Amino acid sequence: MPYLLRRFALILLLPLALAACQSEPPATPAVPASDFSVTVGTDPHSFAEFEKVRIRHLSLDLDADMTARTLSGHVLLDLDRPVPGFQRLVLDTRDLDIREVHAIRPDGESLPVSWRLGSDHGHLGQPLIIVLPQGIEQVRIDYASRPEAFGLQWLDAAQTSSGQPFMFSQSQPHYARTWVPLQDTPAVRYTFDATVRGPRNLMVVMGADGNEFERNNSGEYRFHMPEAIPSYLMAIAIGDLEFVELGPRSGVYAEPQWIERAAAEFDVLEEMIDIGEDLYGPYRWGRYDLLVLPPSFPFGGMENPRLSYVTPTIIAGDGSLLALVAHELAHSWSGNLVTNAAWRDLWLNEGFTVYFEARIMEALYGREVRDQLAKLAWDGLLETLEQVDEADRQLVRDLSDRDPEQAFMRVPYDMGRFFLDWMEHRVGREAFDAFLRQYFDHFAFQSIATEDFRDYLQAELIAAHPDRLSLEEVDQWLFEPGLPEIAFEIEPQSDAFVQVDDWRRQWQGGEIELAELPVDDWSVHQWRHFLIGLEGALDAETMAEMDAQFALVEQQNYEILFLWLMRTIEAEYAPGIERLESFLLEVGRNKFTAPLYSALAASDWGHDWAIEVFERARPGYHPLTRQAAERALGLDQS
Ligand code: BES
Ligand code: ZN
Repeated sequence: MPYLLRRFALILLLPLALAACQSEPPATPAVPASDFSVTVGTDPHSFAEFEKVRIRHLSLDLDADMTARTLSGHVLLDLDRPVPGFQRLVLDTRDLDIREVHAIRPDGESLPVSWRLGSDHGHLGQPLIIVLPQGIEQVRIDYASRPEAFGLQWLDAAQTSSGQPFMFSQSQPHYARTWVPLQDTPAVRYTFDATVRGPRNLMVVMGADGNEFERNNSGEYRFHMPEAIPSYLMAIAIGDLEFVELGPRSGVYAEPQWIERAAAEFDVLEEMIDIGEDLYGPYRWGRYDLLVLPPSFPFGGMENPRLSYVTPTIIAGDGSLLALVAHELAHSWSGNLVTNAAWRDLWLNEGFTVYFEARIMEALYGREVRDQLAKLAWDGLLETLEQVDEADRQLVRDLSDRDPEQAFMRVPYDMGRFFLDWMEHRVGREAFDAFLRQYFDHFAFQSIATEDFRDYLQAELIAAHPDRLSLEEVDQWLFEPGLPEIAFEIEPQSDAFVQVDDWRRQWQGGEIELAELPVDDWSVHQWRHFLIGLEGALDAETMAEMDAQFALVEQQNYEILFLWLMRTIEAEYAPGIERLESFLLEVGRNKFTAPLYSALAASDWGHDWAIEVFERARPGYHPLTRQAAERALGLDQS
């Protein structure tokens, strides 16, 4: 059944809803903006009726059981009720055991209220429907998460480098509902408090204020988040963590085995924050720390406010993969401060962030590095645009009937970024920076839709530069599939890459020997460009020659290693396959594992081998990595 119909059927099934609905006064605007109206609609990926009731503050009290793999306790929700007569609260849940629900009266007395879980809507989970008596502004829910919670990964002692258990959350896009019953939509923002008890020998950290830099003796940790955030930014982790300070407001947490390398790799963090502030205004979240997760973390990074998560696969030893840190930090403005109201508007988060990331990289390492990274992104984007359906070639996409997980592709990231490059190119950097800074101030701590951005752009930038850019051009970027013609005004160029192209051509054309390639001068990005651009499939003999010359199979840089392993599959190159096996058993970062499994599944030799490796790797994978690998291998029956 289409989603909207399903949703409608659900509401019809609710006898308790009817009386309340009939006498309902007209809805008031959802998010009052200062002088621009914010047109937040309902979010197709949440059951929350947030225009009528909305969470203002949330207090968690949880016990973490590392053996049973559960978080259990209660959450108190403080509510705003813009439509006081509306007597129902619908929350998002998925795989939660709900035990009791109480309404807390203003005098503090708690009374049990009726509630029930609606039917199961797959990845959207089950709505928790609670009767909300008049005048009630606080609700308490006693609940527990399940071991299979999609938004949590539990690792036992044998699965970590510290030899101690580890747990971390990944709430974006819609997995917060697997560990807290709440309004799981980026349109709603709230502050929170949390008390969490874990084992005494481990440390609990959260994306919040109050992190302790050392393990305490009680195992109980308290947190407070004074800035209002959307649910997808809720983050918790528990493990054998150490902390190293990097600057007055920055530092890094990691398991003991990673901490020194991590601290050395990320020593520019404080400088990056300063650069961000110089560009687009104050950093408004107090501290900014990084948490290095085990290699099973399914992403490169996650911008959890005050405590961003990163994969250890960016610790290359030479700072060459720090663009990812710049990216997560940049989200402190684009995404965390000004937030997409629904996942259709994801480009507002990710496109702005990739642009901002490139500006930080340019300020730190110069124009050349920026151009190399831009060219890699451009080439990757063109390739993606050729592969995906027309509906996915667009910045703003209708995702109402789809898993929002599918919103995360190169298009909102890189096409979004090039759209910003293009605006900068048209009006000049000074004017564009002034506009962006004002945009972040104007919409700070609000969730907005593409249309809100478009109105603001029209009023503040296009109106001031009508001879430079037009709304018609902007709409081509936003609403038409593929890169518009005008995008080629800003096609990135890198002389360093042109040289690599020359060398590669000469070597593959038999004009020069491998040993003559001037690789000692190459950046990691030149290496990537070299490997991506190799003509045709390499045979095992050529792979062996390259290994003899460059020891690629021993690469410590995971971006280079990944590209090499992809070539390994094509060539059925034995030493590479051995490394591939250990790689798949260790790393759960989907950007690497999903294409590797896909390539194996499509190869002449690798399909059954890949399934066998996957079965062994599976217990150590995050649910998201499992899901993507199963899809790649054709093991999912859905
Ligand atoms: N917000 C994303 C992480 C994310 C992606 C969460 C998909 C949920 C679904 C994060 O900021 C991000 O974009 N990470 C990228 C790195 C970036 C440099 C492109 C990643 O993890 O690869
Ligand atoms: Zn991002």
